[in-house]
Amino acid sequence: MAITDFERYPLTFGPSPVHELKRLSDHLGGARVWAKREDVNSGLAFGGNKTRKLEYIVPDILASGADTLVSIGGYQSNHTRQVAAVAAHLGLKSRLVQERWVDWDDPVNDTVGNIELSRIMGAEVHLDSAGFDIGIRSSWENAIAEVEAAGGKPYPIPAGASEHKFGALGFVNWAYEVAEQEKELGVFFDTIVVCTVTGSTHAGMITGFAALEAAGGPKRQVIGIDASATLEKTRDQVKRIANNAAELIGLGREITDAEVDIRPGWEGPAYGIPDESTVNAIRTTAELEGVILDPVYEGKSMAGLLDLVGQADADRRNAGGRGAVGKDSTVLYAHLGGQLALNAYSSIF
Ligand SMILES: Cc1ncc(COP(=O)(O)O)c(C=O)c1O
Repeated sequence: MAITDFERYPLTFGPSPVHELKRLSDHLGGARVWAKREDVNSGLAFGGNKTRKLEYIVPDILASGADTLVSIGGYQSNHTRQVAAVAAHLGLKSRLVQERWVDWDDPVNDTVGNIELSRIMGAEVHLDSAGFDIGIRSSWENAIAEVEAAGGKPYPIPAGASEHKFGALGFVNWAYEVAEQEKELGVFFDTIVVCTVTGSTHAGMITGFAALEAAGGPKRQVIGIDASATLEKTRDQVKRIANNAAELIGLGREITDAEVDIRPGWEGPAYGIPDESTVNAIRTTAELEGVILDPVYEGKSMAGLLDLVGQADADRRNAGGRGAVGKDSTVLYAHLGGQLALNAYSSIF
C-alpha cells in the first residue's frame, strides 16, 4: 500500500504554508532557513502537528462507532487540546487525562492556554499528579475503562497519537507535501529540522522521505532535536514507529539506526523546562521574524537549528559525527505549533 491508499479525513486547510525566514537566515550567516507552518494548518482550535496526525486516525474513529475520544498528555498538552477540538468537530465527547508532566510552578499552569481551550470545547478534563512519560500509562487505561463502565464507547488515542497504528501517516504524507511544494517554489530542502518527543512526527518524516528516496527522489537529512530529555526512550520509540509506518506503506526495508538522527543538547534540564538557549531562540525568532515559538517544544528545536546553522557550539552537538549543516544548505524548520503553552510561562518574559 502507498500513502495515497490510506483514507484521510480533512481537518486542515490543505498543504501548510512554507516560507523563507530571510532575516533569521541573514542573521545566522550560514544556510538559508525556511519554515513549514503546522501552527497555522487548521481552523480547529489553532491546529498543530496532532491535527495533521488525526486526519489519518479519524476514519478509524468513525468506523469504530465510538462516542468518546480518550487521550492523555501533560497539563499544557497541545495534543489533548487538538483531540478535544476534533471531538467537538465530529460531535463526539472527549475524556482527557492531564498529568503533571512538568515540574513548573506557574500558578496558572493547569488553568490557562491549552487546558483552558479543552475545557471551553467541552472536554472532560481529569488532572493527575503523575510525572512525564511518553509510554502507555495506567491512568489512560483506567480512563478508557471508566468510559466503558459508564456505558460509553471509548476510542483510545495514546500520548501524541504516536503509538497509534496510523499515528505516523500524517507526517509520511508531510514528506510528499514538501516534495510537491519544492517543485512549486523551485527550492530543495537538503536538511529538515524537527522537534521530537513522543516520536511519530519525526518517525513519519523519516519514513516518508525514505519512500520518496526509494522512488528516485534526492537524499536529505532529517534532524530531530530532542525535547523529551529521555533520549534513548525517544530514539527507540521513533525507530519502532518509523518501522511500523514503513511496513504500512510497503517501503520494503527496515529503517536503520543511522536514519534515526535525534540530537541532544537543547532539551534543557527536563521536558517542559526551558534553558537559556530555549529562551534565546524564542526571542531571536520573534524579534527577527515575528514568528512565535513555545518553551516546551519549538523553542528547543529552534535552539538546535540556530546552533547547527550558526555553527556556534555545534561540534559538541553534532552528536556522533553526524552531518553538520553547511553554508550552502537550505534548511526546512518544521514549526509544529504549541504557542498556547506560553500562557503558563509568562514569568520568563
Ligand atoms: C508543538 C509541538 N512540537 C513538537 C511536538 C513533538 O511531536 P511528537 O510528540 O510527535 O514527537 C509536540 C507534541 O509532542 C508539540 O505539541
